Formats: sequence, structure tokens, C-alpha cells
Amino acid sequence: MARSSALAKRLAKLSPEKRALLEKRLGRAKQVEAEGPRAAARAGIDRDALAKLLEQPAVPLVDDDLWQKMVEAGLRQAKASDSTEGLKREASLEPKLNGHAAAYICVALERLGAFREAGERYTLEELREHCSILPDYHKALRRWLVTLAEDGLLRIDGETYSNPTALPPEDLEISDDDRRHYGENLSAIMTGGRHPLEFLVPGGSTKGLEENYTRSPTFQYCNGVSSEILGTAVEQLPADRRMRCLEIGAGTGGTSVSLLPVLPKDRSVYVFTDVSRLFVDLGREKFAEYPFLVCDELDIEKDPLEQGYQRHAYDWIVAAHVLHATRNLHETLEHVCSLLAPGGMLLLLEETRFLRKFNFSMGFLPGFDHFEDYDLRPLHPLLDSESWGKLLLANGFSDFATMTDPEALPQVLGVDVMLARKAL
Ligand SMILES: C[S@@+](CC[C@H](N)C(=O)[O-])C[C@H]1O[C@@H](n2cnc3c(N)ncnc32)[C@H](O)[C@@H]1O
Repeated sequence: MARSSALAKRLAKLSPEKRALLEKRLGRAKQVEAEGPRAAARAGIDRDALAKLLEQPAVPLVDDDLWQKMVEAGLRQAKASDSTEGLKREASLEPKLNGHAAAYICVALERLGAFREAGERYTLEELREHCSILPDYHKALRRWLVTLAEDGLLRIDGETYSNPTALPPEDLEISDDDRRHYGENLSAIMTGGRHPLEFLVPGGSTKGLEENYTRSPTFQYCNGVSSEILGTAVEQLPADRRMRCLEIGAGTGGTSVSLLPVLPKDRSVYVFTDVSRLFVDLGREKFAEYPFLVCDELDIEKDPLEQGYQRHAYDWIVAAHVLHATRNLHETLEHVCSLLAPGGMLLLLEETRFLRKFNFSMGFLPGFDHFEDYDLRPLHPLLDSESWGKLLLANGFSDFATMTDPEALPQVLGVDVMLARKAL
């Protein structure tokens, strides 16, 4: 009552045009509230309407019993699929790719004019300048040098890198094609002659990335485990309980594609977000069949509330292969917690090992080297599962579980599906 008289006073003070506009918006919000999430999606994003859909009595989503059931379901699915033929094949390629990493780096550095004579010595900054490598790639360059040092091709003394013998070594195992391809392209990327996205999204097409996130055995494993966990929640929760989900960095929708079908159409809201408008638009088009989907931009490095998101309005936050790409993980988790309701769930899919192939693939993805929390992540942005657990428990979460056995193939391939429950 008090609210409607305050509203009437506010309306009376407005110009006729502004009053008409506000009345129209309020009418739409009312209609959406009455019709449910379907109308929000049809109406496009209307923050007032969405805010109403996200209102929920303060009953925590997940009690101990449901937490246990979700973890068991995830572990069961992980166990059932951790030794598929696809994963075995992928894991069998890993040693070869690892073995080649140093060779590819050597031929790129040769092109860049470094370490051709035995006994050259540089600090990282001196080497970067000597080779005209862009400042943005100094972290990638450091990792290259560490990789060479691991293989005994460089020596590290404090801040200085030196080569006992001329590089590349004469017995370098590399085909002529690879020598040309990696030598030319990696050196061109490092000096700014070519952009890594030319290779990762050739011609602006995200098809290759999409395929990777949906078809590769590693990502199929992650998606299978994730949908099993979410499906268990849907199955176990009371039939009238609304599922309020938000995905961060949803990108090409490689994870959303396996979660959306699990959600009940009549009582879910799924906010598909990404820092890039390109992906937000792509998501809207790709998942148009889901009436409860809302697509919008969100940069998780910034305060979500300042970007128009509602505090503690989501029961599920999904973050697949994205949180590592942020500047400071303490800050990022603070932002995640500001979105999550008490007792809400974080479904976290992450790369948990820096594979050497990232030296010439994923390590060039935008955001990979945003990290500045060097006490936590000195060389690369990835944390192993145990470190994620510690971090989450120290930053607002009361429970943590990893679905992947440390010895299982997905861990060898450096991915994990993790689940955390926010403290009440
Ligand atoms: C490695 S991709 C993950 C892809 C996604 N899960 C998929 O299936 O395509 C990382 C995604 O996170 C997004 N991203 C990077 N930094 C971000 C940030 N600060 N906030 C939100 N999204 C971000 C990128 O635009 C990209 O779409």
C-alpha cells in the first residue's frame, strides 16, 4: 500500500512523456511477473521484470542431504566416463604435444633472433626488447623460458636466462612443416604481426571453438558431469521451487548447451552472460528455443551490482573455463558471492594444470594473462583442484567438492568439475 502511494506521488511529479514511459514499463513488469520467466525472455531483457522473477523467499536452496546427493551423482557420472575411448585417445596424445613444446618455442625464438649463439644472457625484459616482443606477452615469454629450462635448454640464475649451447639444438626433433609453421606464426604473434584470434577464430568464425567446447572428449566429460549434478538438483527439489541460474563467461554456450535441457521450462530463469557482446548475441540466437533464457553482458572482474545485477538473486552460478581469466581471484569470488543467494551453488569447470601445449594455444586467449594475484598464481593463471578448494573455502563458501579423481584421465588432461556451496 505504502509502495503504491509512493509510486503514485512519483508518477504525479513526472512529465507526461516520462509518466507514460514508466507506466508502460511497470505494466510490462506486472505482465511478466504474472506470466513467469517465459514472458521475460519474450520481452527481451527488462531489468525490472527480471528482478521480480528473481525474488524468492529466503529459503536456502540446498540442504546437507541434497548437497550429498549432488556430489554423489557427480562422482558417479565422473567415474562412469573418466576412461572413455575418446579420453584415452586424447590423453595418449599429451606426451607427444608436451615433448614438442620446447621444439616449437626454439624455432620461434630462433626467428626472433635469440639464443642462436651459446652463452647469450638476458633478463626477461632485455630479451623482450631484444626480440621486439609486445609487452602484453611478457608472461607468455616467461613461460616459454621456463619450459626450455625444464628441458635443460636454458639455465635460470635469479633473474637471468642463459643458454649453455646454441639453440635450436642440432638434433631438434621437428618436421620441416612444423618448423616453418611454428617459427613463422609464433614469432609473428609475439611481435604483433598477427593476432592470436586469427588462428583461434579464423575469419571471425567461432565454429572451431564451439566444436572444441562441445565435441572434445574432455569437454564432453565436463558437460556430462555438470548436467548430472544440475539434473539431480532439479529432481530432488520441491516441484514449485524456481531455479534461478546465471552463467558467467558463457561464450559459445558449450556448457549451457548441456545444462539448459535439464532445467524445467516453467520455473527456471537462466541468465546467459559474457563480457563480450558478440557472445551474448550469439547465445540469444543459438538458444532462442529456451523461453526462460535472458542474455546480457557481465564482466565478472567488476562489481555485478554496479552493472545492474541483483544482489544474492541466483541459486546457481555456472562458470565454465572462465574464472581463471580474471585479474584477482579474491575479488572475482567476492563478485560471484554478491550474485549468489545464501546456500547457493557454484558449478565451476576449470583447467587445473598448465599443459605445455598452452604455450602456443590457450595461453594466447584474451584474458588468459590478466592475472595479477602473483602470490596465488606466479607463472600462469590456473589453479589445481586442491588450491581451488582452499580458495573457495576462504572466500565465502562453506563446502567444496571435486568430481575428478586425481589419477583419472581428465585430471591428466588438466580439467575438473567442482562444486561449492556458499555459506548461509
Ligand atoms: C575460454 S572461454 C569459455 C567458454 C565457454 N564456457 C564456452 O563454452 O564457450 C572464456 C569466456 O569467458 C569470457 N570472459 C573472459 N573474461 C571475462 C570476464 N571478466 N567476465 C565475464 N566473461 C569473461 C570470454 O569472453 C569467453 O567467452
